[in-house]
Parts: sequence; structure tokens; C-alpha cells
Amino acid sequence: MPKKNIEENKLVVHADLGKERISKHIYGHFSEHLGRCIYDGFWVGKESPIPNTRGIRNDIVEALRNVNIPVLRWPGGCFADEYHWQDGIGPYEDRPCMINTHWGGVTENNHFGTHEFMDLCEQLGCEPYICGNLGSGTIQEMQQWVEYLTFDGQSPVSDMRRANGRETPWPVRFWGVGNENWGCGGQMRPEYYADQYRRYATYCRNFGENRLYKIACGASDSNYNWTEVLMREAGSFFDGLSLHYYTLPNTWEAKGSATQFDESEWFTTLKKALFMDELIAGHSNIMDRYDAERRVGLIVDEWGAWYDVEPGTNPGFLYQQNTLRDALLAGVTLNIFNNHCERVYMANIAQTINVLQAMVLTEGKQMLLTPTYHVFEMYKTHQGATRLPIELTGAPYTNGEETIPAINASASRDDEGKVCLSLCNLDPEQEMVVSCQLRGMNPVRASGRVLTANAINAHNTFEKPETVKPAEFDEMTLSDDSLSVNLPAKSVVVLEIE
Ligand code: AHR
Repeated sequence: MPKKNIEENKLVVHADLGKERISKHIYGHFSEHLGRCIYDGFWVGKESPIPNTRGIRNDIVEALRNVNIPVLRWPGGCFADEYHWQDGIGPYEDRPCMINTHWGGVTENNHFGTHEFMDLCEQLGCEPYICGNLGSGTIQEMQQWVEYLTFDGQSPVSDMRRANGRETPWPVRFWGVGNENWGCGGQMRPEYYADQYRRYATYCRNFGENRLYKIACGASDSNYNWTEVLMREAGSFFDGLSLHYYTLPNTWEAKGSATQFDESEWFTTLKKALFMDELIAGHSNIMDRYDAERRVGLIVDEWGAWYDVEPGTNPGFLYQQNTLRDALLAGVTLNIFNNHCERVYMANIAQTINVLQAMVLTEGKQMLLTPTYHVFEMYKTHQGATRLPIELTGAPYTNGEETIPAINASASRDDEGKVCLSLCNLDPEQEMVVSCQLRGMNPVRASGRVLTANAINAHNTFEKPETVKPAEFDEMTLSDDSLSVNLPAKSVVVLEIE
């Protein structure tokens, strides 16, 4: 296959400009009591033969520490608005069971609760993001959860924490006041939710040094009216407003297989992933009208691919495989977040283990890293770096009557001056030559890694866990301030330039 004409793909990186930082929280994760994410995922219990620390799997902690996981959202999702935190503290034998009505109707024994989650975050070295129950819980319940976690003084609730083995409070910054309250979280209208938000948030107190970053339930997809009403009616009472957007190749009724798809579904999935750019711009425009200083962060706390479950698995458990297509989806989405970092403060891919677009899949004591995991690992140098403005004019990728840009990119500069450039080539057939100008920089060396595979549906299995994994990349030439990169078809490439 001939390479695409060098004239077609031009990238200018303004290496000497850039103001905004890429918040590390853009690289965040989400874990719900859903299927095998918590139980059989993070949590195996203290008596398990699988190596664990206080019930939490060691191999998973190690894998997530390796991507510098910055923040973990919990306990849901739809589960959050039916969760009563007091059921998940104290001796296991005293914790009542509940039915997980949203996800398979299975019995939840509440063995993984507040102390276990906070222990998990400490083991991961990440910040917790707790989503409180506004849909079916009381204000007092949410108020007391904050107090239980963060109050240092003496009160019946903080004494209960001490009696359960934790003397000092935990630092907790990110606090969600409900989840999808337009749907599973109570079927509310935005005006009603805005008022409810104001009531609940009033009683989520800052104790001692702890400062809550309160996050209101935001819109799904392009429900711009929800954003408008929330910003107008409650915008001065929250720090973050969420957005949920899932990428489905087809419809909610028949989403499409995670592994059995042709080029047309590859194309549609990536086209829909690129829609995130328009969504963020649309919601940001509304937020700008009420918040020109950009005090309020856009928190994309659920995103990722949603396919049909793997054949033979529980439909309520949302277990799906993860292919090279998901790596491209993650690559373009993270580039979009980087390029909108003036407004996007946090994002949480759904979900960390064994659910939807997972980082990690487990089977008994086995664990594998998905192609999506590798993209998070390759992109980790963007975390906290200064976003660099880019100008990209690239070749189109056409499928049938439709066209999308073949190349997608973002760039950042770390505090030592190293530039990180992440490039995705969405075309499954066509290698591309990208001609980059690194304006304002005298680069002396460039190195990189690539994630690609022979087939668009290549994926890792427990038998072959390393089918899709990063490799060293040296298909580039540096001269003066120009870098010419041979970008393989269907690939994610991350370059480090000094
Ligand atoms: O991530 C799965 C579900 O998707 C979450 O529980 C819910 O918030 C969303 O609809």
C-alpha cells in the first residue's frame, strides 16, 4: 500500500506556546458495583488464594499504579442512587444484603464498602471520587457520609468511623451529588434536579482542611437544555458539572459485537467517538455564557464503548472484550479531552475492570491488560503537562459515502521541556506520512512507541494476552524543527521529543 502524500498531512505544534495544564484527572477511571468490576475484579476477599492486600487484588493495583491512575469514581453509576453507605461499614457478618436491581438483580453483600474503597484508593495512590445518593437517599444520609469520611472532631458519626477501625478522617475532594438524575437516578426534570442539588449540596460540609469539589449531575449526550438549566439555576453552587457519552456502533437494542465487526462498523464507531469533540464544544459554549472565567469544570465521568455483552455472559453484567478499535477510540477521546483542557477537568472511562471498555479483564487468578489499558499507559506523560496548541490538516478517511479525518492528535510539554505528541491513524489500510513542524523548538532527539496489530479486531485473550501491546517506534526522521513520521495504518503512536 503506497504511503499517503506527505503534502496531505501537516501538523504544526506550537512548542513555545501553551497556557493551560492538562488536568491529570482527565485520565481517571470509574468503578461501579456492576457485574464483575468490584467483586471478582478489585475485591477477592481476604481469604482468597489470589494474592491480595486486605482483600484487594495486588496484580490489579500494580497495573493501575503503572498508568498513574489519578482518580477513581465509585460506587456508581445507577447503583449510587440506590446505595445506602451505612450498609457497607462494620463487621461483614452484620452488613445487610441488598438487591442490585440495575445490574442483573444479584445479591450485593456489601462486603466492599467505604473502608474498603478508601483502602483501595490509598493502595492505588489515587484520589477518591464518591457519588452520593440523591435519587433514593436522604439529605441526612449524604450529610453524614461526608461527616463519617472527613470529620476529625467528635460526633456520633465520626466515632462510628473510629469504632470501625479508622481513627483519622480521609481526605475526600470529589463529591458527586447524584448520578443520571434525569434517568436511573430519579427521572427528574432539570429544574427539579437543580433545586434538589441545591438542597443536598448545602449539607455536604467542608470539615477542617477538607474542601469538597462538588459535582452536579450533568447531561447525557447532546441534552444541551439540561446544561443550560443547571448552569442558570444552580451554577454558583457547584464546582463541576458532569457529562455522560457512550459510543455504540449501532442502536441501544442491538449495539454490535465487541470483536466481530467489519470496516463499516469500525468506521461508524470511530466517527461516533469523534463526536465527543462537538459535544464538549456545545456544552462548553453554554457554560461559557454563565461562567466566563471557567471556574466550573466539565467532568466527563462516564465515557467509552458500549457493545453487546460477550455471548453466554449475564446481560446485566456488561462484560465485553476490547480490541484495537477500542485503543483508537481511547486515543482519539483522550486527544479530544487534552485539546479541551481549558474546560474539561476530569474524565472517567467506564469501567475499570470486566465492565464495558475495561482496562483489565480477569478470569480467576488470571488478569490481562486490554488495548485500552495500553493507550492510558502510553498517554500518561500528558498528565499535568501544558497543552500545546496544534494545527492539523490531514488526509480524509472515507468509507462509502462518509468521511472523517484520518489523523487525530494532541500535544503537551512537561516541566522539563519535553514534548509529548500523541497521534492516531484511524484509517485501517493506509499508512500515513505526517509532516510535523515543531515551532519554537530545537529538537535533538525523538523516541516513541506504537500500538497496532494485523487485524482491526485484534484483542488479548487469557491464552494470548500479548497480541496487542506497545512496541518501540522509530519510523521518523528529525531535521531542524521538522519531524516526519510514518504513521502505520490503524495505530496509536506516542512520541517524546527533546
Ligand atoms: O456504566 C454503566 C451505566 O451507564 C451507569 O451505571 C449509568 O450511570 C450509565 O447509564
